[in-house]
Amino acid sequence: MPWTAADIPDQSGRLALITGASSGLGLETARALVRRGATVVLGCRSRQRSEQARASLLADEASGAIDLLDLDLADLVSVRAAARALADRYGRLDLLINNAGVMGLPRSLTSDGFEMQFGVNHLGHFALTMALLPLLRARPASRVVTVTSGAQYFGRIAFDDLQGERRYDRWAAYGQSKLANVMFALELQQQLLAAGADVLSLAAHPGIARTNLQPASVAASGSWFEPLAYRVMGPLMQSSAMGALPQLFAATAPAARPGGHYGPDQLGGMRGHPKEVPVAPAATDGQQRLKLWQLSEQLTAPPTS
Ligand SMILES: NC(=O)c1ccc[n+]([C@@H]2O[C@H](COP(=O)([O-])OP(=O)(O)OC[C@H]3O[C@@H](n4cnc5c(N)ncnc54)[C@H](OP(=O)(O)O)[C@@H]3O)[C@@H](O)[C@H]2O)c1
Repeated sequence: MPWTAADIPDQSGRLALITGASSGLGLETARALVRRGATVVLGCRSRQRSEQARASLLADEASGAIDLLDLDLADLVSVRAAARALADRYGRLDLLINNAGVMGLPRSLTSDGFEMQFGVNHLGHFALTMALLPLLRARPASRVVTVTSGAQYFGRIAFDDLQGERRYDRWAAYGQSKLANVMFALELQQQLLAAGADVLSLAAHPGIARTNLQPASVAASGSWFEPLAYRVMGPLMQSSAMGALPQLFAATAPAARPGGHYGPDQLGGMRGHPKEVPVAPAATDGQQRLKLWQLSEQLTAPPTS
């Protein structure tokens, strides 16, 4: 039987933070978790968009427990403030879903001077997870799910030019950030295990889902070709609700395993129901993962005063 949102176990009493919950997969992940009784915190960069998301969720589930957290992953000051605010408000966290993302942008920089896709998709989530680990570690059976992409399979970590200062290709930068996502998820699991922590780290990718990701990418790049390509791919694309299933499986299924990576089961991983799928070969090299981890720690270290 294919796994669906109806298989999500009861989430009553569990607190989930979802980054980028104002649209697409994040919003559908929030909807599914609220329906199963979780308290869901929408971590979003725009208060107006998070208010709209909450209204859309409440229209569905009048009794849902939904909270808003201001979080801009392109700004480490905002990331640290969000982690502190969550700790002050709740003092606990059961589920962190590192979902927010940007794709295929012309080169631009975060507030901290990082290339935007690497900064938001990977470094912002790295810093957020590290800041929230004490809350997660204090809870039984807590999980961190990091959302990657099929782009991991063509991704390469340019260790000699991580920020694309010498060469920049917007799709190579996206691939790098999504490979970094899955490398982070695997390395985090390894480190948690070594520390004897009960927290699970898993990864998931949605295949190809119709969300705001493609229009936002086209708007930023001004490409004339990509809208045509998306139109041709249209019949292959699945809904946001279907695209959210692999991350919901990773977040809640008792069968999901530590360090597991889940994606759709049909059409070469483009659509379908969740199943465990192989990670990019480049993510299986433990030394490379550790190198990326150490660099990410250095880049996101809080300033010493
Ligand atoms: N859709 C697909 O086919 C596909 C395929 C592979 C992987 N993915 C991955 O799935 C994840 C979710 O994307 P989606 O498809 O649901 O796209 P989406 O509809 O564009 O949602 C992306 C979310 O990320 C948020 N975000 C962007 N920059 C942010 C920042 N600096 N700080 C905080 N939040 C930020 C967006 O906020 P705003 O609403 O303010 O823009 C939005 O809530 C991404 O990690 C993406 O790489 C998607």
